[in-house]
Amino acid sequence: MSDQYTEAQLAELMEAIYQRYSYDFRDYALSSQRRRLNHALERLLCPDLPTLQQRVLADPQLFEQLLQILTVPVTQMFRDPGFFLALRQQVLPVLKTYPSPRIWVAGCCTGEEALSLAIMLKEEGMLSRCTIDATDINPLALQKAAQGVYALHRMEAYSSNYLAAGGQAQLSDYYTIEHETVRFDQQLLENINFADHSLATDSVFAETQLVCCRNVLIYFNKDLQDRALRLFHDSLSHRGFLGLGSKESLNFSSYAERYEPVAGQEKLYRKRAMLGPRAGNKVMPG
Ligand SMILES: C[S@@+](CC[C@H](N)C(=O)[O-])C[C@H]1O[C@@H](n2cnc3c(N)ncnc32)[C@H](O)[C@@H]1O
Repeated sequence: MSDQYTEAQLAELMEAIYQRYSYDFRDYALSSQRRRLNHALERLLCPDLPTLQQRVLADPQLFEQLLQILTVPVTQMFRDPGFFLALRQQVLPVLKTYPSPRIWVAGCCTGEEALSLAIMLKEEGMLSRCTIDATDINPLALQKAAQGVYALHRMEAYSSNYLAAGGQAQLSDYYTIEHETVRFDQQLLENINFADHSLATDSVFAETQLVCCRNVLIYFNKDLQDRALRLFHDSLSHRGFLGLGSKESLNFSSYAERYEPVAGQEKLYRKRAMLGPRAGNKVMPG
């Protein structure tokens, strides 16, 4: 399947999408983009990439369907619980010392990650003075996120994640069951701003003390990863924290030296203290 179109055709499709819809997938990692496109050809019943391109450019609704495939809207509450446990034990005690901490969840998908953070912040008695900016490019995912309503059948897995992440109560304390869905308490959503923001085309919008961007950079090529890491670095305040996904790392990026590991295995980093402009410069004897 992947041999049925050339890299040039793929690039042409992404350029056309960018020109027509302003969604910029031009710097995404080729291998995963190919997987997504192969899936799209099957799902959208297109024989080849030029046909997909022609149809998507002519039909915004079809583009919306393609967007759901290209953006991989897959997530969980308390995904990789060890990460949340490390946040709770090593990051929140520091954030607690700030009067109004601000957290940016980039690539928040349908909101489970931001909601998990809100629950942890509530348990640490910090939620009411925290702001969470949860951003994504997928409008359907953002709409769903703002509702705080999820499938009941997912709660068993989410509950065990929550407990493994150091949860102090029962996850069910935070939602009410409505038929086959659950509705999380509105209070948890009050301090979360869900917003459209692209790491590929937009700039920094706020100063934050913690950025979580997990399972997003893996879909980007090196240049776009660097762009996103620059946004995070510019957004983070002095000694701010950065959390990445389990398959992501700062290694080999131009930002590696700017952070120190807090819980390296959990991909949790902290901005190094900036040295003064002259610090470290030795005055050479004349
Ligand atoms: C696999 S999900 C990860 C969700 C969540 N962070 C997690 O770890 O469970 C990837 C998310 O990144 C979003 N995304 C993809 N490209 C993006 C971009 N350029 N800017 C912001 N978000 C993006 C997708 O829409 C999708 O919701």
